[in-house]
Amino acid sequence: MTVVEPIKTNTRKITTLASLTPNQIEAIRKIPAEKDAVVEPLLATRPNAIFTTQNHFDREQAGIFRRYPVPVTVSALLPEPGMVVADCGYGIPLLISRTKSGEVKVFINACQHKGAKIVEDCEVHKASRLTCPYHAWTYGIDGKLVGVARNDAFDNLDKTERNLVELESREWGGIIYAQLNRDIPADWSNLSQQISDDFTALGIPDAHVYGRKTFDLKANWKVILEPFLEGYHVQRLHAASIGDLFQDAPNIVDMFGPNIRQVSGRIGYEPEMLDEDEAANVHKLVTHAYTAFPNCVIITSQYYTSVMILKPNGPNRSTVEYFMLTPGPATTAKAEEVFSRSLELIINVFGGEDFRAAEISQEGLSAGVPEEAVYCGLEANIVNYYEALEKLL
Ligand code: FES
Ligand SMILES: [Fe+2]
Repeated sequence: MTVVEPIKTNTRKITTLASLTPNQIEAIRKIPAEKDAVVEPLLATRPNAIFTTQNHFDREQAGIFRRYPVPVTVSALLPEPGMVVADCGYGIPLLISRTKSGEVKVFINACQHKGAKIVEDCEVHKASRLTCPYHAWTYGIDGKLVGVARNDAFDNLDKTERNLVELESREWGGIIYAQLNRDIPADWSNLSQQISDDFTALGIPDAHVYGRKTFDLKANWKVILEPFLEGYHVQRLHAASIGDLFQDAPNIVDMFGPNIRQVSGRIGYEPEMLDEDEAANVHKLVTHAYTAFPNCVIITSQYYTSVMILKPNGPNRSTVEYFMLTPGPATTAKAEEVFSRSLELIINVFGGEDFRAAEISQEGLSAGVPEEAVYCGLEANIVNYYEALEKLL
């Protein structure tokens, strides 16, 4: 377990071009003016079964989600030592804590007496001790069993053998990853240093969680992921909301192992605009969209960043954890108004439009139609991503 960034020191309010990594800047410089964008036509397909069958779901679980470390939450949710949160999005009860030293630890949220969940809700708590609701065994937030009620009734119980079960975990660019399968040592090789550097430049590790919402969706996790890998739907599905802010053109795509970075110009973008004002908020001109392996989506907006973790629960069931990250808490009424309006907007856009699209697609897919999903040149990135996943299955 490693400690990364210091906690809550960032006071920078906007991301400028110069505050990004050289690699991010290079990608942004490749975005053409909207009128110069070219689409390479494509006709690719993927079989219906990858979105609908238990067999494919089980293969993904074995080959990806229970094979490699997966994102469980964001570092920003636990900004201070002593903070702890439970999560069960992956079907395993987890307990994630930031210990006194600032280090993050991930445990199975199960008491070593009889397995009861130690923390039952999914709110963030601040505590020095965690007490099991059943018979009140008490643990430190470092997972050590420190107290057993009526210890005298046990015949020589060895407390040191009854600490919470810890999973291998790591903070990576502000995302907390854990290895869910205890039978396999964590293989961190799918996490990319460039992605972590990018996220740090975007202020994700020391951001503030302004909003958080959990969605239980009737859709395969990849059906939910797809709209975040393509721009084809934006001017159409989002016609009534944000569609007119974005170009109908391919994104600039870079892959770092099985991680994807897309950058795109907003409507009317021209490369010269980048150099007009060095102090300008770069996200007024461009949008970053990442897929961090395997299921974490990060999208930048002008005043905040969205992080979504898409947790598969079955072939056609998923839990999405949405986080709206801001550079800090709102300190003025104006900022509060911007943040709260933004949160309402983005929940409506992602929840009411992208997730709705995923659920209505899933209905057809689950009825066997189409037999193969079809992808065009504006969706090539989905195919790139599936190729990367297929290599691991
Ligand atoms: S199950 Fe936790 S104390 Fe008994
Ligand atoms: Fe969308």
